[in-house]
Amino acid sequence: MAGKHFVITGKSGVGKSMVAANLGAALAEAGHRVLLIGYDNHRSSARNLSGGNNFARLPGWPQGDDTPLYARGYRGALCLEAGTTVTAGKEAAEVALAAHPLVAAYQPEYVLHDLPWEPGPGFRLPAGVDGGGVVLAVTSADRCSLHVLNGLFAWLNTVAAADTRLGGVVANNLSGPLHEAIVSDFAGQTGASVTAALPHSIMVSVSDFYSQTLLQSAPFSHVSYAYRKLARTLTEGGAQRRPRPLEEDALKRWATNWGDIIAELETGVVHGGLGI
Ligand SMILES: Nc1ncnc2c1ncn2[C@@H]1O[C@H](COP(=O)(O)OP(=O)(O)OP(=O)(O)O)[C@@H](O)[C@H]1O
Ligand SMILES: [Mg+2]
Repeated sequence: MAGKHFVITGKSGVGKSMVAANLGAALAEAGHRVLLIGYDNHRSSARNLSGGNNFARLPGWPQGDDTPLYARGYRGALCLEAGTTVTAGKEAAEVALAAHPLVAAYQPEYVLHDLPWEPGPGFRLPAGVDGGGVVLAVTSADRCSLHVLNGLFAWLNTVAAADTRLGGVVANNLSGPLHEAIVSDFAGQTGASVTAALPHSIMVSVSDFYSQTLLQSAPFSHVSYAYRKLARTLTEGGAQRRPRPLEEDALKRWATNWGDIIAELETGVVHGGLGI
């Protein structure tokens, strides 16, 4: 499929769909033709980028409840919802979707894939991604999301095609400098770069309730500017080094160390030392 592909992945619930929809909105706002493909029957990303517009069933496909849906959205973005028709393991359907005449006619410059399957041993990119996808790793500052991120780095180093690149880590839902420090320390340990640090913002959930992107519902919010900056960084971005995952033991030590730091900050009791 034509265009530059961004594959948005991370642990479930980490904020992938919000990042996908708002990144799509920011790219569309910058004048690009954006195709967003969601593979999730909740339709979160495409619904928000389309502003809750009515989806139509994709023509030229067996018509039924699980026919992929499409709508035009913010600044003309094309939103496709593959739903349960195209899920992990259904590569033929992914190929058919990527080759659909509607997609070919649209000639997207940027294709965003909002993946529902988590990085793990069997991780793979959608079949329509050729010519080197750019993987965006969304994480929050909790141990489990960072553990999943570590698994993605392992995949990048062992299974991924040579031309698959990491566009960077998108740290999402951060509450304050401690969260930023945790993610940037993990990135530092693995040699990854944090491409965007997006704060927790109640306005992000408000936009979700409105079935909109934040760029539509709160265009002047500082988080909207953070999404725009992410879009600019990615369109201008050069190659990033492939990060090295931490070995299981090192990952455990790293997590325990942060557990100690957080506990010390919370309780004032220095680990293995005196109370302060
Ligand atoms: N920066 C943020 N600030 C506040 N709320 C956020 C932020 N990012 C995401 N959320 C909220 O977190 C919830 C989960 O986000 P989202 O649906 O994007 O996650 P996801 O990774 O796509 O989940 P799933 O794995 O289920 O597809 C949503 O209710 C969303 O509004
Ligand atoms: Mg999602």
